[in-house]
Amino acid sequence: MKKKYRKVAIGVDVGGSGIKGAPVDLKTGQFLDERYRVPTPEDAEPKEIAKIIRKIVDHFDLPEEVPVGVSFPAPIVRGQVPFMANLSKEWEGQFPARIISRQLKRPVTVMNDADAAGYAEVYYGAANGQKGTIIMLTLGTGIGSALVSDGVLVPNSELGHLLLDNGMEAEHFAASSVFEREGLSFEEWAQRLQKVFSHIDMLFSPDLFIVGGGVSKKHKKFLPLIDTNAPIVPADLLNSAGIVGSALYAKQMLA
Ligand code: BGC
Repeated sequence: MKKKYRKVAIGVDVGGSGIKGAPVDLKTGQFLDERYRVPTPEDAEPKEIAKIIRKIVDHFDLPEEVPVGVSFPAPIVRGQVPFMANLSKEWEGQFPARIISRQLKRPVTVMNDADAAGYAEVYYGAANGQKGTIIMLTLGTGIGSALVSDGVLVPNSELGHLLLDNGMEAEHFAASSVFEREGLSFEEWAQRLQKVFSHIDMLFSPDLFIVGGGVSKKHKKFLPLIDTNAPIVPADLLNSAGIVGSALYAKQMLA
């Protein structure tokens, strides 16, 4: 492989509203090119999503040896999707890396989106060098979570599906999609998030909370309103963490 590509991988983040990709410089965790985004078609079948991923990867026109990592909005258990909350149910029981690599005609790795974001924060961001238990929540269409213990990611934590004492799942009550759909004020939304964070605080006694997802750009408007035992900080990589973390993982697994 040419020297200039040795520390490069492409990350693609599959989300409920958009599929976004970029080549990543793994020395720094920075994008090497502008992010390319395609809106997620409603009820898209696995093959259709795989074709969009191919379009995004082809857009960057990089050599085939550059690894591709995909971050995916579902748990990935030994390569397989056990359940799918926010994309087509047709993914359930499927092995996304197989479906996507068949379209791309190159090897890919697939990991959960919040795990990818947490992984990127461990290497390049707010969790770098931090000991103890760190919980990252990503606020988007759903709520994703990454659990990190002394710098090691414990995958597939799925805290967005915690049942709260009002009988609702955390992500149905407090995802940023709910904030937008219900037209909540930041104060109202922060009260909902408070319930989620207090519950997780009690269950895990983490040393640090990190908040990611697109809305983390606006952290000043809602994070100061949330009171937790553990410090709570915005993600350093904001919304690029899924792309960066999945690119890094691909490089480590496929190199
Ligand atoms: C999924 C998680 C995902 C999160 C954010 C949840 O509904 O179950 O796997 O990380 O949404 O996309």
